[in-house]
Amino acid sequence: MKFLDLKTQQDRIRKPLEKRFNAILDHGAYIMGPEVYELEEKLADYCGVKHAISCSSGTDALLIPLMAWGIGPGDAVFTTPFTYVATAEVIALLGATPVFVDVYESTFNIDCEKLEIAIQDTIKDGKLNPKAIIPVDLFGVPARYRLIQEIANTYHLKVIEDAAQSFGGSIGEKKAGVFGDIAATSFYPAKPLGCYGDGGAMFTNDDSLAEQCRAIRIHGTSSDKYNSEIIGLNGRLDSMQAAVLLEKLTIFDEELEMRNKVNDYYRKSLNNAQHIPENYHSAHALFSITLQSNQDREDLINRLNNNNIPNVVYYKHPIHLMKGFDYLGYKNGDFSVSENLSQTIVSLPMHPYLSEIEIDSTIEVLKK
Ligand SMILES: Cc1ncc(COP(=O)(O)O)c(C=O)c1O
Repeated sequence: MKFLDLKTQQDRIRKPLEKRFNAILDHGAYIMGPEVYELEEKLADYCGVKHAISCSSGTDALLIPLMAWGIGPGDAVFTTPFTYVATAEVIALLGATPVFVDVYESTFNIDCEKLEIAIQDTIKDGKLNPKAIIPVDLFGVPARYRLIQEIANTYHLKVIEDAAQSFGGSIGEKKAGVFGDIAATSFYPAKPLGCYGDGGAMFTNDDSLAEQCRAIRIHGTSSDKYNSEIIGLNGRLDSMQAAVLLEKLTIFDEELEMRNKVNDYYRKSLNNAQHIPENYHSAHALFSITLQSNQDREDLINRLNNNNIPNVVYYKHPIHLMKGFDYLGYKNGDFSVSENLSQTIVSLPMHPYLSEIEIDSTIEVLKK
């Protein structure tokens, strides 16, 4: 059994992909070639936004909008400690301060009540200027954007949807990628839509923000390649990766439906999986369950390993307790929900090609 099966998927797209690779070898535009622009058009269409701007990774897709807004020292950006480190890292990289907010026990996404309290506390404290919120759509489930947007409007904050794991997910008819001022996704190979290297994209309806992000991803340049208008970075997507994504997009909706079936099948027998609220649709990047205690989780992991059932803990270390973030002065006990999740959560195999027999054998171990 595989935790993630990229091989079966590759077999399906291999021939057209080779054709696309050959076309790139022929035209030779390896960076920002025609595939990149074709992909951006298709991604924008898929999400229903005006602008899709591809870039070199999900991390850069988060960093670039923060740079466009000039966020830096003295600024507070609110996010959760129960996410991949990249979400908080980009804030710290710019010299701004990540202000952590705990998550809901059910969805593992940012707790909106606690978010508002954290914003008010920061304002009262007077040391930092609240500037932005980065909600994370953890494991594929979108965060509560209606409430988040209301809070953002009240306190005049920008919102970046961290959709690294949720491309393909939605709330009602609204696809992940349309929430907030801008959204950032990742095309890391393990993501629901992944390439064969690093890649990412930003999505926005804001023309001027889109223009700035396009410039920042190429060293702050726009019309003149050798005359930088703002400080930028090397954040481009290459043509080969765009070609992979174009071919994967052709089977993406079908794969999403297959992931949905895997999810439904697991849930027939399990009641301790991540909660997906009504009218929310997960991209099912990961299928995660929680156990009663850390001991229970470790016992389960041992049993899964003994039965050759792959499993991974996302995330063993909440960011506020990571050494790299010591300087923020957080301590154990500050975010009890995130801390408890990090002790009790485990992710089971999840991919479109997982069979019912494989799921049954996983469930059998769980039931024991
Ligand atoms: C929630 C989240 N944000 C950001 C990132 C960063 O994406 P990338 O690895 O493409 O830089 C990831 C990647 O795992 C992620 O899961």
